Amino acid sequence: MSTTGPVLPGTDAPLAAGELIVLLDRRRRRYLVTLEPGGEWHSHAGVVSHDALIGATEGTVVRTTRNMEVLALRPTREDFVLKMKRGAQVVYPKDQAMIVAAADIRPGATVIEAGAGSGALTLALLAAVGPTGRVVSFERREDHAVVAERNVTRFLGEHPPTWELVIGDVTTALGERTAHRVVLDLLEPWTAVAPSASALSPGGIVLAYTPTVPQVMRFDQALWHDGRFTDVRTSETLVRPWDVDGLAVRPAHRMVAHTAFLTTARRVPRREEGGPPPPRRKLDTGPGIVWADAAAGGAVTGEEGEPIAPDEPSGG
Ligand SMILES: C[S@@+](CC[C@H](N)C(=O)[O-])C[C@H]1O[C@@H](n2cnc3c(N)ncnc32)[C@H](O)[C@@H]1O
Repeated sequence: MSTTGPVLPGTDAPLAAGELIVLLDRRRRRYLVTLEPGGEWHSHAGVVSHDALIGATEGTVVRTTRNMEVLALRPTREDFVLKMKRGAQVVYPKDQAMIVAAADIRPGATVIEAGAGSGALTLALLAAVGPTGRVVSFERREDHAVVAERNVTRFLGEHPPTWELVIGDVTTALGERTAHRVVLDLLEPWTAVAPSASALSPGGIVLAYTPTVPQVMRFDQALWHDGRFTDVRTSETLVRPWDVDGLAVRPAHRMVAHTAFLTTARRVPRREEGGPPPPRRKLDTGPGIVWADAAAGGAVTGEEGEPIAPDEPSGG
């Protein structure tokens, strides 16, 4: 692909060699394919020659050698994220959208992200900050960073100039970096609260994406105890797909229900520096709760980066 990035789906341009496309079969199963002259796509229902697609209009239907129709489209980011190769679990598209909204990620913003994982959320952050913004992704596992690099580059056609991928632990490797937003999708986001506060100026936003209730509680507790965050909010996002088929219009039988909770907080000065008073809390988990120490083998969630199942989202 050229350095100008991928052709936007819906552009009136024929499919070209080197382009990433998605093939949909009759049952709407999706397959990612990079078009290569002379290449072939093999399925249980026969073969499609890439040459039959190169030069065709987006939306063209071709037949396999066993007469199955397949539809060729340019992939949306959702198509790509759900089909790309994963090292770590990805942030599901419904949550990507809410992360962009809840953390107010907009063109021109500098966003620090950790961990990069498979690069799925990175793609959404890069789109949201646009050509004038910047995303700095920290990833402590080199093998995951390789996957993130491969996925981002494959979808965008290049390593975007607005992206920096750092192999390192976000809790120790931030240095003097500053950002408007910090987005955490890692097992122990509470360990990144103080570094996030240092990277953010007052008014900035930190967001954590955590699958389990104990992670929410511990992150929340760390925010309050740090003294530089307020307006802490937690939500989860449920998206229920519907089947619409003639008179049979009803919720789909299956949905992706729980993925993870989003917790956001605003960075503020400490109270003694003119910031808001600490919140009056009905209950403080305080020192009463002894949290399992992940380093001692008592992590609050499972091992990171182990895919649960294809297409099943997860976070943290
Ligand atoms: C669930 S994955 C992130 C998935 C990613 N958001 C995506 O959408 O593809 C969590 C990642 O965080 C990384 N990680 C965990 N703790 C970290 C830390 N302290 N600093 C940097 N990376 C970390 C893990 O190695 C793992 O790759």
